[in-house]
Amino acid sequence: MLHIFFLYIHILSAIGSIGPLFALIPMLKKMEETDEASLGGFVQSFQYAISVVKHFGHILVTSGVFLIILSGWTWTTSWVVLTIVGMGSSVFYLARAFKPTLKTYGTSDFNKESFIAKLRKSTWIYILLLLFVLWLMVAKPVLW
Ligand code: HEM
Repeated sequence: MLHIFFLYIHILSAIGSIGPLFALIPMLKKMEETDEASLGGFVQSFQYAISVVKHFGHILVTSGVFLIILSGWTWTTSWVVLTIVGMGSSVFYLARAFKPTLKTYGTSDFNKESFIAKLRKSTWIYILLLLFVLWLMVAKPVLW
């Protein structure tokens, strides 16, 4: 019962960690068509989406830890190790890729074209990284 509860929370937080990122892709397109002075609302929504992804990511990792404890899997299982590496890189990426770029808005370092290009690249890399981890979780490949 407890196992099912954590599995449910885990899958719900996987949805919350990936879902908002897909909404960012069409938003970036809209940002391209908006003049610099009116971009503020979009930048705020972008920051909000990233913070939702971050919070769900914390729930995802916490529920994942409980699932390891409650299920028969161990910390040395290959797909678990790869997931931890994947999650580690994604946390590193989330902090390093989005924050410094978003912070340039409203400063002299701001350049609309490179700002949008960087955010688009970071969003896609993050989506692909999470989709790879999702595949590891679902396929559970035993590599060693
Ligand atoms: C430190 C990170 C994580 C740990 C320790 C972890 C651990 C686990 C474990 C042990 C299971 C199997 C539960 C069972 O057999 O009943 C599981 C299932 C699952 N995980 Fe994770 N997980 C982590 C991160 C993630 C991430 C980042 C995603 C999505 C991107 C994800 C999505 C899923 C899904 C969809 C399942 C259900 C798949 C299935 O059992 O058929 N997990 N996780």
